[in-house]
Amino acid sequence: MNIEKLKYSDLDFLHNLDKNSFLKFWDIKNLSEEILNPNSFNFGVFEQSNFNNEKFLKAAILGRIIFDEYWIFKIMTHSNFRRSGLAGKLIQKLITTLKTERKICAKSIWLEVSVQNRGAIQFYQKNGFQIITKRLRYYPEDAFIMCLMLK
Ligand SMILES: CC(C)(COP(=O)(O)OP(=O)(O)OC[C@H]1O[C@@H](n2cnc3c(N)ncnc32)[C@H](O)[C@@H]1OP(=O)(O)O)[C@@H](O)C(=O)NCCC(=O)NCCS
Repeated sequence: MNIEKLKYSDLDFLHNLDKNSFLKFWDIKNLSEEILNPNSFNFGVFEQSNFNNEKFLKAAILGRIIFDEYWIFKIMTHSNFRRSGLAGKLIQKLITTLKTERKICAKSIWLEVSVQNRGAIQFYQKNGFQIITKRLRYYPEDAFIMCLMLK
């Protein structure tokens, strides 16, 4: 199992994972813009088959650095591989990268999550995020804004 920065050549893997993970998934154009954006920091957990050497994307995180904040746009684990620590590994990889890459000056990680997405909220809290505020009728249901301070 490898954690790698997502590349343009991973786009089809990413599209399939997104479709597996969300009812409202992004189209290929949005995903490719995100991968190519210079302010994006996106990682994936890949499994390489010993049998035919084919790659499979099990989990991914997409987000951008906006001024001194990193905003998570999506985090997703394929439904066959949930509750085995993969998204947690991606968050840890993100934190380490943001803290150690010298050209990055992110001081915090932020996200919006539907108040109805109890599993994701629990996941973020387990990884140290705190609820900061609630945005009313955001999705259209309400959303929590959550944050993890890095420094
Ligand atoms: C949220 C999500 C990314 C978590 O991925 P994961 O790889 O299963 O997460 P991890 O295995 O690293 O973490 C598991 C921990 O998160 C919490 N958690 C994750 N899913 C949960 C659920 N359905 N119910 C309750 N707690 C949950 C628990 O604390 C769990 O620890 P435990 O298994 O010891 O109880 C995954 O459920 C997912 O892809 N959901 C669909 C997409 C989504 O809603 N993304 C978030 C909004 S952008």
